Amino acid sequence: MAGSGLQIFVAYPSLGPRGAQYSWYPFQGTPPPEWLRIGGWLGGGRHWHFAIAWFLILNGIAYLTYMFAKGEWRRRMFLPQRDLVNAATMFAYYTRLRKTPPPVDFYNGLQRLAYTSAIIFGIVMVLSGLAIYKPVQLHFLTVPFGGYDGARVVHLAGLALLMLFVANHLVLVALHPRELLNMITGGKRG
Ligand code: HEM
Ligand code: HEM
Repeated sequence: MAGSGLQIFVAYPSLGPRGAQYSWYPFQGTPPPEWLRIGGWLGGGRHWHFAIAWFLILNGIAYLTYMFAKGEWRRRMFLPQRDLVNAATMFAYYTRLRKTPPPVDFYNGLQRLAYTSAIIFGIVMVLSGLAIYKPVQLHFLTVPFGGYDGARVVHLAGLALLMLFVANHLVLVALHPRELLNMITGGKRG
């Protein structure tokens, strides 16, 4: 999704409407490097992007339906009342401000915060993607993002946030490789 999105971005690597680009965006007119792109040209990038987007949407619907139907959200989602202090303490442990980790049940608070954020970023990507896909037919989706240009900004910011998540996620997976099995099986039954 990121590679094909960046290929699409090359067609107009600026933010804001033509003739009135946003002054806060420092990389106006700078295309992302070629090795980060998938698709070869605008049309190719769009084909890849939409092909994988529908898969992402179906996969997301299946995942969220299962999680809520089975009550799995209770142990997997970040619930501030339960998880906020645990997340802060875990952060202190990771940054060596604290010597001992907080008690952990299925996930620690920081994990829940990261996973729930990633799911929310995914939903925002789908909504902002649909908003720029059909800005006329799905006008009601484009308006909350502040219009077509706003939705593009959100879509691009979402890419950056997801990449930040993935970078941290992969470091932690590398440190705890045994969790890979849990990723496939869903872990212990609750
Ligand atoms: C992880 C998920 C995704 C990532 C990282 C991503 C990334 C990107 C990026 C970087 C662009 C270029 C922005 C621009 O120049 O306007 C883009 C464009 C676009 N994306 Fe996504 N995207 C994702 C998901 C989706 C989804 C689910 C849809 C739903 C249909 C979607 C639809 C679009 C559309 C319609 C465009 C503009 C295409 C065009 O104007 O030719 N994206 N995406
Ligand atoms: C855009 C890419 C990714 C996203 C958005 C993502 C998101 C997530 C989320 C939301 C969870 C929690 C799932 C749940 O409890 O239902 C999770 C768990 C996990 N992910 Fe990812 N992930 C990504 C890529 C990867 C990759 C590439 C790997 C490994 C190579 C990986 C390894 C894991 C593992 C091992 C867990 C389980 C952790 C545990 O049980 O303690 N993820 N991921």
